[in-house]
Amino acid sequence: MIVALLSAKSSGVTTTALALALASPRATVLAECDPSGGTVRAGYLQGAATAAVGLHRLATAERDGSLPEVFERHLVALDADGYRLLLPGLTDPAQAPSLAGTWEPLHRLLRVMEEDGYDVLVDAGRAVVESSHRLSSLYSPAPLLRLADLVLLVVRASAPAVAAAAPVVRVLREDLDRHGTGAGALGLVLIEEVGFKASEVAAALGVPVVATLPDDPETADALGSGGRVRGRFALAPLIRASRSAHEQITIAATRRRVQIAPRPTLEAPRV
Ligand SMILES: Nc1ncnc2c1ncn2[C@@H]1O[C@H](COP(=O)(O)OP(=O)(O)OP(=O)(O)O)[C@@H](O)[C@H]1O
Ligand SMILES: [Mg+2]
Repeated sequence: MIVALLSAKSSGVTTTALALALASPRATVLAECDPSGGTVRAGYLQGAATAAVGLHRLATAERDGSLPEVFERHLVALDADGYRLLLPGLTDPAQAPSLAGTWEPLHRLLRVMEEDGYDVLVDAGRAVVESSHRLSSLYSPAPLLRLADLVLLVVRASAPAVAAAAPVVRVLREDLDRHGTGAGALGLVLIEEVGFKASEVAAALGVPVVATLPDDPETADALGSGGRVRGRFALAPLIRASRSAHEQITIAATRRRVQIAPRPTLEAPRV
């Protein structure tokens, strides 16, 4: 599956994508495609990966025709056995415009990774809206959303977060209907807060909640900085919940694929 995660307002996309990648039972590529820059290299990886690799290098490779050859060299290990990989994000938001022609070739390479058995999680950052029915041209990774199996908006279960998400949901629906696989690709990942139920958020936004994650600042901070959590990492609330969230996301992505797959047509009888 190829799943894009984004927010209406910084709300935990990078943490969620990283937690899902680390909790996944499958080989996974986490592609940091936030146009405002990547943070996993400096944060969770504590600078372990050199700035010589990453998304910002792919635009030049695409232009000189070497992208398919060099792509895998830009992936770095997220875990000790290299079962989970990271495409590190931009080192400077000023690099984003140069990627305009790179998203579609990048998507094709991510599809190849998927055919090779990887799940692909895309951190698509924060959506930028231009008018009531348009994503901004400044939000360059829009093609990745349109081509993904699922587009998951990460939202906190709070009134201000839901209010901020509503206009973005409208624009995403319209954009996916016009240019993507349809608004049915859209779902929510909810970060729980006291007092707001998943069913209320789903009803308020008119989008299904595909998965929920707990508010777990300690683990979220550790993921952001490469720090440690008390006790076993695998038992931290956010990581445990990410395992079931991953299952729910996989089910939703599979269902979506079946929904949009072209139906086989019977050959017309010859006369
Ligand atoms: N499940 C969670 N529980 C508690 N805190 C969280 C959770 N997820 C993320 N956070 C916290 O929320 C803040 C923003 O998280 P993160 O950087 O992942 O968001 P983002 O949407 O990627 O933001 P940006 O748009 O700046 O890239 C961080 O302080 C992070 O630790
Ligand atoms: Mg982020």
